[in-house]
Amino acid sequence: MGYVRVYNGVIKVIGNQQSIVFIGFMGAGKTTIGKLVAEKLRREFIDIDEAIEKEYGIPTSEIFKKIGEKAFRAKEKEIIIELSKRQGYILSLGGGAFLQEETREACLQNCTVIFLDISWEYWKERIGLIIDSRPVLQGRNQEEIRELFNSRQAIYQHHHIKIGTDDQQPEQIAEYIVSKLG
Ligand code: S3P
Repeated sequence: MGYVRVYNGVIKVIGNQQSIVFIGFMGAGKTTIGKLVAEKLRREFIDIDEAIEKEYGIPTSEIFKKIGEKAFRAKEKEIIIELSKRQGYILSLGGGAFLQEETREACLQNCTVIFLDISWEYWKERIGLIIDSRPVLQGRNQEEIRELFNSRQAIYQHHHIKIGTDDQQPEQIAEYIVSKLG
């Protein structure tokens, strides 16, 4: 059994064990929804930011401060490319991971990529909840964050499945994803 996936005009039938990758802007719900989908499909969930934090033994904001974004991005790419080759995982990627072409290509080739699409109107209500733990948001005003939000949308267009999350609860979204994956 499998399901059909289309990307760049190429149609593939995907086996049930293909890993699933969640992409989207910070705070879109990738980790929450990814964990729910993993529970429902009885698969192992990995949050890439957490995996990077484990390697360095400090939180992401400290990695950015002490070691730098460049090192964070290098580690992010290395971990994602390695995990994308494995079967059966549910991976939640950081919102900037798809900026790197090799990361994008590895995920699009090896996994099913699900874009969690949230509108600015909904997202801006979450700023206060996430800003402290997201170094790329710090020191920017709302207009600058909006520009970042808009500029990132292009990289998220590289996906297999897009799910609009406005007005939906994580549980509903996870159920929908599971039903769509068959
Ligand atoms: C980042 C997103 C974060 C984390 C890091 C950088 C980004 O992940 O990887 O702070 O550049 O968008 P989340 O999308 O899980 O918040």
